[in-house]
Amino acid sequence: NVASTYSDPIHIAVIGGTGLQSLPGFTLAATLNVDTPWGTPSSPISVLHHKSPSTGRDIPIAFLSRHGLHHEIAPHEVPARANIAALRSLGVRTVIAFSAVGSLQEEIKPRDFVVPDQVIDRTKGIRPFTFFEEGMVGHVGFADPFDEKLGAVVRKLGHSLEGDNVHLHDKGTIICMEGPQFSTRAESHMYRSWGGSVINMSVLPEAKLAKEAEIAYQMICMSTDYDCWHSSEDVTVEMVMGNMKANSENARRFVGGVLDELSKEEHSDLILGKHLEGQTKFAGGITAP
Ligand code: ADE
Repeated sequence: NVASTYSDPIHIAVIGGTGLQSLPGFTLAATLNVDTPWGTPSSPISVLHHKSPSTGRDIPIAFLSRHGLHHEIAPHEVPARANIAALRSLGVRTVIAFSAVGSLQEEIKPRDFVVPDQVIDRTKGIRPFTFFEEGMVGHVGFADPFDEKLGAVVRKLGHSLEGDNVHLHDKGTIICMEGPQFSTRAESHMYRSWGGSVINMSVLPEAKLAKEAEIAYQMICMSTDYDCWHSSEDVTVEMVMGNMKANSENARRFVGGVLDELSKEEHSDLILGKHLEGQTKFAGGITAP
């Protein structure tokens, strides 16, 4: 019988994507059904206990499955505002988001990891993409969509895993397309000419909403295909799922390693989002329901 409430604040969350719908190896401390003024999140939020390798103390981690517990939510239907607001209401100030991506560059091979530093928005404006509306006006800087301090931790850890099976590209521009159809060949070539490194359907509006909520956000991408610009086979769902599954062990090692690192004393200000405080007027407006 798992608890349905959790009283301590939770500072770190993982948003899992396709192929990373759970994080085994952690103790499940609670399962929370959180409601928000923006609706209910994609899935109940699992509170996992992660033992800090430096202090031996249990650190709570919130885990949310972006596409639902059974992968039933399409990318354009993800309730991103509810997801971010629910995490923020639990105290989350640091999000590690995971996503399967298509590769737009020869050197980013299927199963390689990419820690992107830039985004190009190719969503169609039909997903609710801001908390600032209905009389509440606000503009946040989005020049650097990912958190640099958090990104540095993720990159360092990722490099420490590099070897025969793990390849990391520590920069890259991610194109976020609307979907759910994949790109046309002409679009895929156009994205390459724009300097795109990888493509997915999920980084937006998630990253924008995290920025508005003063949450440090970094995505870790795993390449599952060469989209359709490449001479190899065009992307299919089976290809995405197959590569994700085949490399899920490394994906979990990567995320687990980042959590180990973030639970070190030296990152205590980072996970509390101290460097972000006061950047927006709105973050304080997301309160527990
Ligand atoms: N996710 C994984 N592969 C993708 C692709 N080729 N295009 C868009 N999203 C993806």
